[in-house]
Amino acid sequence: MNAKITLGLILAGFAAPLASGQIVNSAHDFSSMAWSDGEICKPCHTPHFAMEGILRLWNHELTVANYTLHAGAGTAVDDFDIRSRLCLSCHDGTVALDSFGGQSGSSFISGQANLGTDLTNDHPVGSDAQYPPDPAPVWWSHAFRPAEDLQVRLYDWEDQAGVTRKVISCVTCHDEHNAGNIDGMLKISNNASALCLDCHLK
Ligand code: HEC
Ligand code: HEC
Ligand code: HEC
Ligand code: HEC
Repeated sequence: MNAKITLGLILAGFAAPLASGQIVNSAHDFSSMAWSDGEICKPCHTPHFAMEGILRLWNHELTVANYTLHAGAGTAVDDFDIRSRLCLSCHDGTVALDSFGGQSGSSFISGQANLGTDLTNDHPVGSDAQYPPDPAPVWWSHAFRPAEDLQVRLYDWEDQAGVTRKVISCVTCHDEHNAGNIDGMLKISNNASALCLDCHLK
């Protein structure tokens, strides 16, 4: 076998699984849903006339819900980093999936993917999960890996006093495009709780 053919076969072997991974056929590939206009990106992004002041050419109506958080009452506007708010704009069940591109939709998320507006049974994000925690819980000392050692990154959130703090976001743990094709659309595999142990020293 000559070198060119061998290389071709090797590349084909790697290319096939990659092409079937990522967002195509993932839980975020809505192209087969009646409400999606047959497109993959459009329910979330648009190349033109994106929502002003929101990052990533955002195209989906934003949630303005009130929540029950671990620390008490909270709101979509004040208590989350912008990325978590984008996720909650479908996953809290208050905004229709097909409310994008300026239209008002009527299909809502269902089942376990609907986290609801009581987030006390979910891993803390945003104001609930400042890193380092503020105020520091009694178990703070040695309970967390120092932030600079983390594989999964933190995101900025501006608190009510206008101070920028580091927080856990939905996208700290999740990859919305599922680039690694990992179960549960996670950033790194949670096999043997590797994701949890990346932060929590247990
Ligand atoms: C379910 C919603 C959703 C869908 C569908 C979606 N995205 Fe995204 N995308 C997001 C979110 C949320 C972010 C912001 C995440 C961040 O900044 O960490 C993002 C960020 C991006 C970015 C910038 C950061 C990066 O990861 O490169 C690009 C480029 C992008 N998306 C392209 C696309 C394209 C192209 C498609 C369609 C093939 C698509 N997205 C489909 C939600 C979505
Ligand atoms: C346009 C609406 C929309 C947005 C925005 C959105 N999602 Fe989803 N997401 C869905 C729907 C619909 C499903 C599929 C639910 C089902 O299968 O019943 C889903 C499924 C998921 C799943 C389950 C994956 C699996 O394999 O079962 C995860 C995790 C997830 N989303 C995380 C996120 C995160 C994190 C963000 C923000 C970065 C986000 N989503 C933004 C609509 C959205
Ligand atoms: C600390 C890490 C972490 C954070 C933060 C996090 N998740 Fe998850 N999420 C997970 C893990 C782990 C799973 C389970 C994945 C699996 O095993 O399939 C999961 C599962 C999910 C599922 C699928 C639920 C189901 O049972 O079908 C959805 C939807 C989801 N997350 C959305 C979100 C949204 C939206 C946010 C932000 C509000 C978020 N997650 C924040 C780690 C996290
Ligand atoms: C990126 C770092 C990070 C990752 C990854 C992570 N956590 Fe956390 N976790 C935190 C932070 C920060 C808090 C909030 C600490 C505080 O302020 O109380 C927290 C809080 C918690 C709490 C306490 C919630 C409460 O009732 O107050 C539990 C339990 C927990 N995490 C479990 C997990 C599990 C299970 C996983 C894996 C799916 C995980 N964590 C992944 C950083 C992380």
